[in-house]
Amino acid sequence: MTGIHHMLVHFPIAFWALATLLVLLGVMGRGRAADIAQASLLPLLVLSLLGALAAIVSGFLVWPWQANLYSPMVRNHILMAFWALAVWSMLAVLLWRAGKAAFSGRQGWALIFLALLGGGLFAITGTLGGHLAGAPTAFSQLIAALGWKLYTTFYLPSWALLILALVGLGCALLGLAGRRRGG
Ligand code: HEM
Repeated sequence: MTGIHHMLVHFPIAFWALATLLVLLGVMGRGRAADIAQASLLPLLVLSLLGALAAIVSGFLVWPWQANLYSPMVRNHILMAFWALAVWSMLAVLLWRAGKAAFSGRQGWALIFLALLGGGLFAITGTLGGHLAGAPTAFSQLIAALGWKLYTTFYLPSWALLILALVGLGCALLGLAGRRRGG
């Protein structure tokens, strides 16, 4: 049964990796390549979200809840999977609402920021999964260099919480300012 999760996770991982490249190409590229990247991003994101749901559901069906939640590494794996899903869902909604305008100006940079964030989150999800399955990757050394040791860090440092709160506050203020200017 575990093979089902191992097989299904390839869908969100491959689609999100491609989506990260398409965002970069769609915002920073020129000509036909950029047009194709812009046109194909939303359908690809829809597929990636379906793939992610299948991966998440399989994770919950294949292993018992008690086992999943008992292990801090699996808890981190699940948390990162949900964060990745949230960021990519947000990106898909933005693209759906804004259409082509999402790729230009400041919206384009917001798209790149979200894509790099989502890319990092799914890479961490995958690397945690690899450690759980006994197949560690070199990517974890990069995360360790940033201060997150996969086998021992099972909390969010206070400075990270502070930065998250500040980013959230900044986004809310930017949104309010934008709405005022628009209305
Ligand atoms: C977007 C969602 C997810 C992605 C991309 C993902 C990715 C992965 C990857 C790449 C592996 C390693 C597979 C291998 O080496 O062949 C893995 C393993 C694992 N995943 Fe996930 N995962 C996701 C969601 C979940 C969820 C929601 C759960 C639990 C509820 C879960 C539980 C596990 C467990 C327990 C393993 C270890 C498997 C083993 O021991 O053989 N995953 N995952």
